[in-house]
Amino acid sequence: MKIDILTLFPEMFKGVFEESIIKRAIDEKKVEINIINFRDYTNDPHKKVDDTPYGGGAGMVLTCQPIFDCVNDIKTNDSKVILLTPSGVPYKQKHAYELADEKHLIIICGHYEGFDERIRTIVDEEISIGDYVLTGGEIASMVLVDSVTRLLPGVITEASHKDDSFNNNLLDYPTYTKPRVYNGLEVPEVLLSGDHKKIEEFRREESIKKTREVRPDLLGDD
Ligand code: ADE
Repeated sequence: MKIDILTLFPEMFKGVFEESIIKRAIDEKKVEINIINFRDYTNDPHKKVDDTPYGGGAGMVLTCQPIFDCVNDIKTNDSKVILLTPSGVPYKQKHAYELADEKHLIIICGHYEGFDERIRTIVDEEISIGDYVLTGGEIASMVLVDSVTRLLPGVITEASHKDDSFNNNLLDYPTYTKPRVYNGLEVPEVLLSGDHKKIEEFRREESIKKTREVRPDLLGDD
């Protein structure tokens, strides 16, 4: 998969994709990630990419030209163009699986007070990572890229994400490792039993219990 991220703050991405699983996925060519500064596409002699809003109001608005030209330059028939904005569709794990099937993602990070409404005409999907407002789409794009990359074939084993929280509308079950007793806290006996059927039942029950406690909405119980 190829992912192009359009941003005015390329430096923000330093480090984030240079560690751990994402770095390995890049090194092993499972994903190609390009950080593109769309200021490089502006026709403005002063390199401006924003302007005041028509009708008045606070703040500056991203203009159409640099983003239109940048997307036009990199888009192919295989591209899906995503705009990150708090007014987008709430991002869910199911969506991550859908995006992981795409060949090329172009992710536009909004910034400042907003963007010219006409930018929406060149976008396939608008996504929000949650009901809160960030200073821009950069951190949201990192969340999106991380959640999609880990699902790409060969990045982590399928067994590692098969039981992820949110698959089957359930949160993940609790896991334990050595030692068997830590500060008086014991590992549940069933996990030491070697009885795989019982372990599976226990995990499922714990998943349901946890989901009922903290995310009843996932079970349709709220
Ligand atoms: N930009 C600012 N806030 C955002 C959010 N919650 N999701 C996606 N992009 C954003």
